[in-house]
Amino acid sequence: MSLPKAELHLHIEGTLEPELAFELAARNGVTLPYADTDELREAYRFEDLQSFLNLYYELMAVLRTERDFEDLANAYLARAAAQGVRHAEIFFDPQAHTGRGLEIGTVVEGLWRALGNSEANHGVSTRLILCFLRDESAESALATLDAAKPYLDRITGVGLDSAEVGHPPAKFREVYEAAAALGLRRVAHAGEEGPPEYITEALDVLGVERVDHGLRCVEDPALVERLVRDRVPLTLCPLSNVRLRTVDTLADHPLPAMLDAGLMCTVNSDDPAYFGGYADDNFDAVRATLGLTDERLRELARNSFLASFLEDDEELRARYLAEVDAYDFQSTP
Ligand code: ADE
Ligand code: ZN
Repeated sequence: MSLPKAELHLHIEGTLEPELAFELAARNGVTLPYADTDELREAYRFEDLQSFLNLYYELMAVLRTERDFEDLANAYLARAAAQGVRHAEIFFDPQAHTGRGLEIGTVVEGLWRALGNSEANHGVSTRLILCFLRDESAESALATLDAAKPYLDRITGVGLDSAEVGHPPAKFREVYEAAAALGLRRVAHAGEEGPPEYITEALDVLGVERVDHGLRCVEDPALVERLVRDRVPLTLCPLSNVRLRTVDTLADHPLPAMLDAGLMCTVNSDDPAYFGGYADDNFDAVRATLGLTDERLRELARNSFLASFLEDDEELRARYLAEVDAYDFQSTP
């Protein structure tokens, strides 16, 4: 199903496929503690968010040069385009790279070599979102924002990711205020493993415009009512939730109930190289397993463009929405 859609929750480092990891390891003289891609794939059995993050950070050792980040982003954009993605708002984790000695400029410039040419090369418009690692200090986040200042023409917004529980949004009040003052858009992961209170805090203290995941809002009816009333977009990631055991099985995913409640849901792929699928794989899975109707799928696609940070190009957003409206489910498999 190549329903036109925007990808709003995608960690570029989470698109590192095993084959590319080994290719980059060989190119950079990095030794991975896995014999081959099969053995590496064996490690993709996660208990929870932290067990995934351990592997996610470990494999980043192969990313060393601008060209590596360019290759990583181009590989993702090609796959995304083939899965109906017209627009991608892409997260990156600078601290995961500066912490091992890279310059933030290597990361941003490398990614930009791919993103800056993405409309021409892949037919995918892009935005870049700098994420702070919430299990690092607030001071480190402030230093990261400072280091990013020369690159702000390439960065649309800030986000918050990594280990959630024990690292509430309020820890990052100051850096989010500084980001807002710089004109950056604000999002944050909240309510993936953490409690519904973290969602409320992300809205009230950090001023986020979208909530990444937000899944656990379903535990708090008053919060659901607020999210519905204020049309706060949630960037859900169904296959990620299954792999990280946030839900028992895909059949248990609350997406249909969330849509019925009037929440502004979107469907995204999070870390597709690790969780078994890119954008369409997630759409196909929720269609097949949760029985979403064509009109519900169209609503998800419309939401993805409505929730995207395309305020600087409303003409493009209108064109994408028209494409969604014109999409014929009957004529495409
Ligand atoms: N970093 C990469 N993927 C993540 C996720 N699903 N949750 C939090 N941090 C992440
Ligand atoms: Zn995520």
